[in-house]
Amino acid sequence: MSVSVSVHSEVGKVPFVIKNRQQISPTYGSKRARRSPYRILEALSRKQMQDTILVTGGAGFIGSNFILSWMKAIGSAVVNLDLLTYAGNASNLASLEADARYQLVCGDICDAELVASLLRTHRPRAIVHFAAESHVDRSIASPDAFIKTNLIGTFNLLNMARAYWRELHEAEQARFRFLHVSTDEVYGSLGPADARFTEQTAYAPNSPYAASKAGADHLARAFHHTYGLPVIATNCSNNYGPFQFPEKLIPLVILNALEGNPLPVYGDGMNVRDWLYVEDHCAAIRRVLEQGRPGETYNIGGNSERANIDVVGLICDTLDELRPQPGAEPRRKLITFVEDRPGHDRRYAIDCGKIERELGWKPAERFETGLRKTVEWYLDNARWVAGVRTGEYREWIERNYAQRSEL
Ligand code: NAD
Ligand code: TYD
Repeated sequence: MSVSVSVHSEVGKVPFVIKNRQQISPTYGSKRARRSPYRILEALSRKQMQDTILVTGGAGFIGSNFILSWMKAIGSAVVNLDLLTYAGNASNLASLEADARYQLVCGDICDAELVASLLRTHRPRAIVHFAAESHVDRSIASPDAFIKTNLIGTFNLLNMARAYWRELHEAEQARFRFLHVSTDEVYGSLGPADARFTEQTAYAPNSPYAASKAGADHLARAFHHTYGLPVIATNCSNNYGPFQFPEKLIPLVILNALEGNPLPVYGDGMNVRDWLYVEDHCAAIRRVLEQGRPGETYNIGGNSERANIDVVGLICDTLDELRPQPGAEPRRKLITFVEDRPGHDRRYAIDCGKIERELGWKPAERFETGLRKTVEWYLDNARWVAGVRTGEYREWIERNYAQRSEL
């Protein structure tokens, strides 16, 4: 007697039915077993992968810019998994509150059950992993959270992604991507005449933040190499732009200068960073997601090396023009050299030739125009600023600067 078994699938959004399961003979014990008819039946019974992407840390600075630009450029659904730490701010995405394509899940990337259930429920075609503890000075003061989120959290995501990916149909497996967002700080520090970081530069992280990101990069690489998970990593230089938490140099200096407070410059102010406007970073990530090759790393940079003192000076000049102080006192007078950051990397610079050659991406924004837009954004968004300068923020500022001696 032939038993009829119905297996429903949403392939092509049309319910799919298979009958007479016993007529299909399995081929256990061989390589072909993985493609055996039972496996095919099982696979067809699973829900299809969706166009949805799972973004981690999407309420932070780069993540929220990424989601906003994703909605304009691509428009498929986004699930945002964010712990809403001091650096995460749900209101960055207030404009998407009523948008059915966007969902915020407040939770920890270290929570394996939560991550597995999100993957099961939403069947994303990609994970874009931004979530991290991201501030070097905080990593020096208290490194523990950096190890937990950046290292263990990334491991957990990779592990859960692997379990999800393994069960996908072959074509879906080929389409799936795990995009691991990282930093140029994993490469260590350059001297003034050294060549810029390429994807071949040896890792030499110097701060607990950089070391935790380097460890996460190695895990991401190993999950591709060992299990075949389609991981792509990006290592990007310093970002600036709207929604950056005002503990980082550019927003901190804009706000201090606006309020007539001292502008703390570490050491001699000659440390160099390669600045990238955040929208350019978001465009690069979209490009890597669509065209990047699994197993590859892409460096992303702004071709805009600037010494800190020059960045601070330009912010002062821009504010003097847009919001002159009473008596036209130049804000450069507020610059105060303070005790250096321990282990302060001297210079970062990214060679982004690979992503330009292979994927056709290069930064569109010039530093001077991007910085002006950023200053204007902080001037226009006083309510956002007031909302993020909480008691916890003030405590941090007190801790980081009050005991720092002037040079
Ligand atoms: P951010 O600190 O502004 O945001 C981090 C986000 O992650 C926050 O929303 C926070 O709530 C969330 N988060 C922290 N721990 C979490 C956890 N355990 N589970 C879930 N969510 C958690 O950081 P950012 O500047 O937007 O950086 C985003 C990513 O880009 C990071 O991985 C960082 O290393 C990398 N990166 C940043 C820069 C830069 O200049 N900001 C440059 C290169 C690379
Ligand atoms: P930051 O924005 O913390 O980014 P990162 O450490 O990841 O590069 O700092 C950028 C540069 O500015 C870095 O060289 C440290 C310096 N800096 C100051 O001089 N003063 C400050 O108050 C801060 C926060 C940073």
